[in-house]
Amino acid sequence: MTTRILCISGPNLQLLGTREPEVYGRETLADVHARLEKRARALGVTVEARQSNHEGALVDWIGGAREGGFAGLLVNPGAYTHTSIAILDALRAVALPCVEVHLSNPDGREPFRRRSYVARACIGRVAGFGADSYELALDGLVRSLARPRSHA
Ligand code: DQA
Repeated sequence: MTTRILCISGPNLQLLGTREPEVYGRETLADVHARLEKRARALGVTVEARQSNHEGALVDWIGGAREGGFAGLLVNPGAYTHTSIAILDALRAVALPCVEVHLSNPDGREPFRRRSYVARACIGRVAGFGADSYELALDGLVRSLARPRSHA
């Protein structure tokens, strides 16, 4: 059976392409998802990509990921990265390998973006490479899944 990965993007990421392009680039979220699907095909896995502006929807999707047959997660929680204990708890509860993804490099921006709650439940983070961050995160996650004991 093909390895299935769930990619979740949080608030305001539906506006990619027009949202602060100097920070986030000019590619739309649909462009990012198309690239991710292409990379997934090359890696022999499948990716299902979702976006919501609602914290509860993100929590529901994370919590349902194991039941849904996903082997791992890519999560860009947007601003909830810096605030959401609920998303951290959902990631801990589902206990699937997760890579934190950001288009920008939050550590190089305002001080309030330096704290990531979700990082505590992630195997790694890719940030600062624009849309490439998603593809690079997928590469890292798939490599990690090939070494099951590394995140047991
Ligand atoms: C972001 C970084 C966050 O600080 C910000 O709130 C976002 C996008 C990124 O992908 O660079 O909404 O997660």
